[in-house]
Amino acid sequence: MQYSLHLDRPMNFETTSTLRLSCSPGQRDLLADELEHLGVTTQQGGPTGVECQGSLLDAMRLNLVSRIAMRVLYRLSSFACTHPDELSVGVSKIPWEDIIPLNGYFTVTCTVDHPTIDNTMFASLKVKDAIVDRIRGIFSRRPDSGPLRNAAVIHLHWAGDTAQIWIDTSGQKLADRGYRKMPHLAPLRETLAAAILQQSGYTGAAPLVIPMCGSGTLAIEAALMATGRPPGLLRSAYGFQHLVAFNKDAWDTIRHDATPPKPRRGRTTCPPIIATDINPDAVTATQRNAETAGVDHLIQTDVCDFADTPMPEEKGHLILHPEYGLRLGEQHDLELLYPRMGDFLKHRCGGWSSWIYTGNLELAKLIGLRTSCRVPLRNAKVDARLFGYDVWEGRHERQDSPS
Ligand SMILES: C[S@@+](CC[C@H](N)C(=O)[O-])C[C@H]1O[C@@H](n2cnc3c(N)ncnc32)[C@H](O)[C@@H]1O
Repeated sequence: MQYSLHLDRPMNFETTSTLRLSCSPGQRDLLADELEHLGVTTQQGGPTGVECQGSLLDAMRLNLVSRIAMRVLYRLSSFACTHPDELSVGVSKIPWEDIIPLNGYFTVTCTVDHPTIDNTMFASLKVKDAIVDRIRGIFSRRPDSGPLRNAAVIHLHWAGDTAQIWIDTSGQKLADRGYRKMPHLAPLRETLAAAILQQSGYTGAAPLVIPMCGSGTLAIEAALMATGRPPGLLRSAYGFQHLVAFNKDAWDTIRHDATPPKPRRGRTTCPPIIATDINPDAVTATQRNAETAGVDHLIQTDVCDFADTPMPEEKGHLILHPEYGLRLGEQHDLELLYPRMGDFLKHRCGGWSSWIYTGNLELAKLIGLRTSCRVPLRNAKVDARLFGYDVWEGRHERQDSPS
């Protein structure tokens, strides 16, 4: 059986292997662009991920700085595997005693597409048993295991006749930044908000207006981007912290190096970020979440109809994320709202880079403006689009229906 183990003994955080950064469907190219921008040379990783070469130290840094990745995985081994028994043998060759602390806890996750497996739980159990048997054979004791992702996470990917064993260095998904204490209604996932901002061309160099801000995810992600603050700084727990060789000093250095220096006088500033919503509870949620994220001083908030949002003189980016009529909002009300959004862009947003993100493609036709681009960006199970509009100043666009 072909077998390759990507580890030195004892396990070393500097050993290079394949890193896989996973993302939501539709965000792969944005993730690849983000990584290239961070100086990482990327390889294709299928529709929901990007791969690159790196060490566990690199994985720690990417967990901290990537705004779009959902998880960062580090490959431990890959081997030919045609039967569950071969899976056990392959997994038992990995020096788990150097990876999972004896007094620690681990869980096994898996994606399996193999004719011998009709229940992925069975494959997870095989991996878990092989890990436990190896460690117990050496120490006569074993670490705890179970379903929680709050400690070491081992991932099996078995497709065709190749099994790959990875460490999920993130543990909990990276979308859970830790600032959203008040979710309000239908909030965007933080990674999706970052993807929308990146797709819209927002870099933090020009003003940003977010009417319909809800719990403030777009505005907060924008403030973090504009000030160069890594999204992971607020998070206290990652999977890699639960590995035997985890080095807290190295982690502190990575965090320190990734944190932008404080400006000499006063607090960090950036071009205006304006977030408004018609619902006062949404605006309160935005303010509270922004406080938790440490960016409340960068976001101006207001309670108002989207059409009354105060616009800064300098033009920039504007993003609307209305309800879709799937979970919230009445269809009839939304049939009135969507054309009003088109009128708002036409009459008040000339010269702005304007965007509407929606999961209701029928309602989107009522916006009545010609789109400059239509980007598929799924919102969980919803087939959503980010529609771009270039409304020229002093000129009304002709009507057109997006498909
Ligand atoms: C889908 S939610 C936005 C979620 C937000 N992106 C987040 O991540 O939390 C839509 C928001 O639009 C607001 N809204 C609905 N009608 C509005 C109107 N006419 N003017 C301003 N806001 C409105 C709702 O109160 C709701 O907070």
